[in-house]
Amino acid sequence: MDTRLFSEKFFEKYGNRNEKPVLFFSPGRVNLIGEHTDYNGGYVFPCALNYGTYLLVRRIKGNKIRFSTLNFNSDEEAEIDGLFVNTGKNWINYPLGIINEFLRRDVKLEGLELLYFGDVPNGAGLSSSASIEMVTAVALNELFNTGFSTLELVKLSQRAENEFVGMNCGIMDQFAAGFGKKDHAIFLNCDTLAYENVPVILEDCSLIVTNTNKRRGLTDSKYNERRAECDRAVEHLQAYKPIRNLSQLNTDDIPLLEKYITDPLVRNRAKHVISENGRVLEAVKALKDNNIYRFGELMNLSHDSLRDDYDVTGTELDTLVYEGRRFPGVIGTRMTGAGFGGCTVTIVRTQDSANFMIKLADIYKKKTGLMPDFYQPEIGNGAGRL
Ligand code: GLA
Repeated sequence: MDTRLFSEKFFEKYGNRNEKPVLFFSPGRVNLIGEHTDYNGGYVFPCALNYGTYLLVRRIKGNKIRFSTLNFNSDEEAEIDGLFVNTGKNWINYPLGIINEFLRRDVKLEGLELLYFGDVPNGAGLSSSASIEMVTAVALNELFNTGFSTLELVKLSQRAENEFVGMNCGIMDQFAAGFGKKDHAIFLNCDTLAYENVPVILEDCSLIVTNTNKRRGLTDSKYNERRAECDRAVEHLQAYKPIRNLSQLNTDDIPLLEKYITDPLVRNRAKHVISENGRVLEAVKALKDNNIYRFGELMNLSHDSLRDDYDVTGTELDTLVYEGRRFPGVIGTRMTGAGFGGCTVTIVRTQDSANFMIKLADIYKKKTGLMPDFYQPEIGNGAGRL
């Protein structure tokens, strides 16, 4: 990130070089294991990336808010005059949703000039949206001295996405953006929000994120459909135990699903969630024991379960994963994020990583007609002022 050039762009757009803007950053995330468990009160294990969203922002007199981004051509304006409403498909719904949450908490906001730049690909399952939300939240918190805790900012960001944007996500992405720690993954219990930062020491291995570059399709509606299926599973299982969510059961309960859930589709959804929680617990232990091979096996099992029981993978993700697994040096590989497209995450021996990327790109292109993108991210810190 060239901060000098970024500031230059800010002044070209908004003028007045005497008033310096402040720079904030919020990371995107990659989830190592624990998928579609967060909204079921389960375990997740994401880490923040050194890719994300940068924001230069400055207060101005009056009640105008100006938004702009370097990612595409879009200059927008809004005026603070009561609460905002969703503006349709526009990207400024993410920051507007955050501004709304501050207004709802009776924060007296005033005029702002904002310039965003994101280097995490949009809609690729690396939480570009949560990074826009969280960077806006930390900036408002600091510029207006609101003193909200990181957890409060995480929760208000999730609420903005649920209620303002209309995507019914769990808390994982905003939490990872808020609580990320360099070279650590976050072992989070999404029911209690208790968490632990676990060191990710890969030694002679590397983390590779591969983007399917599949166009975003019905992700949001399919996502909400899965959530509803999990709710149905809970209703069935309440005949067996008074549970609030699927994560109150554990892997010993899996044989009972057959008896209490008659619909095989709903049963499989429950099986994924419960078995995935078990895999996260085991994976965290494996990482702490420095057993990267077991960690990789669990990543593979996670993907199989997301394909077979949860049905959120699809040809592109499956091609990357099952072709990828055949390469020497691949320790584990799985889809990450909501699925249906987006990215995979792979742990591969560093000496084999170039071969993996070059040859997998070739096979993937032949099989799907699409070119993948590869990233070799570092694990970074959570959102804050730079
Ligand atoms: C999306 C959502 C998260 C989580 C994942 C699936 O990224 O935003 O809350 O549910 O999908 O694990």
